[in-house]
Amino acid sequence: MAIRKIREMGDDVLTKQCREVKEVTPKIKTLVADMFETMYEACGVGLAAPQVGILKRIFVVDTTGDTPHVFINPEIVETSGSQTGEEGCLSVPGKCAVVTRPNYVKVRAYDLDMKPFEMEGTELLARAILHENDHLDGHLYVEKAEGEIMDVE
Ligand code: NI
Repeated sequence: MAIRKIREMGDDVLTKQCREVKEVTPKIKTLVADMFETMYEACGVGLAAPQVGILKRIFVVDTTGDTPHVFINPEIVETSGSQTGEEGCLSVPGKCAVVTRPNYVKVRAYDLDMKPFEMEGTELLARAILHENDHLDGHLYVEKAEGEIMDVE
């Protein structure tokens, strides 16, 4: 495993549409392991493949520090409710802003064995899943920011 360089806002790779994963190759397994290591090292709760320069539909999330989840070819199938709170991104270091998102999400995706699964999340988990999913379509949270982008104290 290795820590990969996190691409920052202004890098074109963060604005691109990511491609579907057809097959989980050893290279993709290494990518996912590296994404977890890179996310934990940076104290993040989620990381999407384009943030390490790979235009594939993969993200990882762990909102508790001991519940790693990988999502391959994710699809948001349901959302409801609303939550408004501060959000940050490892690609926009040292900054945060207020973003409103659904409070509940149901996501369908594939795991590392390409087995389909569904997962539900609320609050921070829902926010993280929706934030990471946006990365796969080239979107950053700053586009949804309400008010100023602030410095993290
Ligand atoms: Ni992000």
